[in-house]
Amino acid sequence: MTEFKKAHSSIHFEIISQLADSIWREHYIPIVGKPQIDYMLDKFQSAEAIKEQVASGFEYFLIYYNETPVGYISIKKEEKALFLSKIYVLSSYRRKKIGKSSMMFVEEKASYYNLENIRLTVNINNINSIKAYEKMGFVNEGPLVTDIGNGFIMDDYQMIKKIKA
Ligand SMILES: CC(C)(COP(=O)(O)OP(=O)(O)OC[C@H]1O[C@@H](n2cnc3c(N)ncnc32)[C@H](O)[C@@H]1OP(=O)(O)O)[C@@H](O)C(=O)NCCC(=O)NCCS
Repeated sequence: MTEFKKAHSSIHFEIISQLADSIWREHYIPIVGKPQIDYMLDKFQSAEAIKEQVASGFEYFLIYYNETPVGYISIKKEEKALFLSKIYVLSSYRRKKIGKSSMMFVEEKASYYNLENIRLTVNINNINSIKAYEKMGFVNEGPLVTDIGNGFIMDDYQMIKKIKA
């Protein structure tokens, strides 16, 4: 059974940071290389960085599968869309519909906030996740390049899913 718990304490932020370390190193080092992942984990996914993001309006949720933390989600309410900033499931738990349940949870949040769109960004070489998003109803809106400092860029596509309000 998949369940979601809002992250609000330093213990939660620490669990998320550990999940990020394991998922991002395995998944992204082959895509963007170790120096960029070392930089991004430190800048965006340390427990302290997550705490600051939560203080600035991001909501983080831990994903539990049969009571084990197996991933996490981060969302932010924007004027016209719900931004799905992060959705990550440990590799050994993928293809069990946890991503799909998580997306339903995110859609409920979008409806709650009266938003008709969910938007996300995904690395252009993150092929399997792009396929998963397409299966979950997202449409590719084209490239979006973001400078994240230290000489690194994020080379993404923006994808959007329209939902019933
Ligand atoms: C993307 C991710 C969250 C999907 O989670 P998941 O639990 O594996 O997804 P589900 O099992 O719920 O599958 C959802 C749909 O996507 C499809 N899908 C999932 N992984 C896929 C893959 N590798 N290739 C093609 N389709 C895939 C499933 O078939 C399913 O569609 P269906 O219901 O029509 O069969 C997960 O694969 C992940 O964490 N990936 C690595 C990290 C990442 O890149 N995150 C996104 C950052 S932008």
